[in-house]
Amino acid sequence: MSTTVGIIGGGMIGGQVARLALNAGYKVIICNSRGPDTLAELVEELGAGAQAARLEDVADKTDLIVLAVPFAVYSKLPVDLLKGKVLVDTLNYYPERDGVMPEVKTESIATSELVQRHLVGAKVVRAINNLDFVRLLSRARPAGATDRSALPIASDFADAKAQVITFLDTIGYDSVDMGALADSWRSEPTMPIYVNPYWGQASVYTSGPTDISSFMSAPGRTVSKVEAQTLLASAVRHDKMFGSLGSFDLSKP
Ligand SMILES: NC(=O)c1ccc[n+]([C@@H]2O[C@H](COP(=O)([O-])OP(=O)(O)OC[C@H]3O[C@@H](n4cnc5c(N)ncnc54)[C@H](OP(=O)(O)O)[C@@H]3O)[C@@H](O)[C@H]2O)c1
Repeated sequence: MSTTVGIIGGGMIGGQVARLALNAGYKVIICNSRGPDTLAELVEELGAGAQAARLEDVADKTDLIVLAVPFAVYSKLPVDLLKGKVLVDTLNYYPERDGVMPEVKTESIATSELVQRHLVGAKVVRAINNLDFVRLLSRARPAGATDRSALPIASDFADAKAQVITFLDTIGYDSVDMGALADSWRSEPTMPIYVNPYWGQASVYTSGPTDISSFMSAPGRTVSKVEAQTLLASAVRHDKMFGSLGSFDLSKP
């Protein structure tokens, strides 16, 4: 795998993935829709090894690219530029943010299948979608640590899945294989493994507590491989597996 990771989206998730990747010794190239200049503050904070670029440059220079944009953006991602790439799909459908998207039918198609269907020729890997951006950084642990957490992963491509398992291992997480993208509904919003077990509270996104500072400072908890497998196995599919921010405004921590 290349030592440079591409990231499309420089917000909460894109920024944290960049920090984890840099900590692990990768370089990162990040883009957004408004242009590299608007990412200057982020790359300065990230320091050596981080670069802002246009999406074309990210596609040109990297083979493993983390998608960290609002879900609704997936259908605007350029198919030709992303052909042949391994794409880590962190995207979750939040109607409040993404609007009504008739193609989302959570009872019968996983959102990652929609992403793969659009990005013909790319290898989509579902991962890093089921824990919040605060715990994503704070719960990362070196391989072998007793308090290391596991993240679910799915793909239709074994080689791409193996690459992302290695990437996750390097940045601080074990993996639990959910199978193909068709099985990845098990880690979507409202499912037992979604956010809450890592945050360590009963129901952050469904009831929407207003105390943002406790959300930001909560230490979180370890979700072991065994617990992750149990949570995935207990998932029950339904037709409203949508995210909800409740009363949170995560843009103003
Ligand atoms: N936040 C979390 O805790 C969390 C946890 C798990 C998964 N996720 C998922 O991860 C994804 C990103 O969430 P986030 O919280 O990081 O969102 P965010 O903070 O709002 O960041 C989104 C980023 O996407 C960029 N963007 C928007 N449209 C784009 C386009 N057409 N092309 C390229 N870049 C574009 C935005 O920059 P510009 O507007 O400047 O282009 C911004 O940098 C979402 O699908 C979310 O559901 C989030």
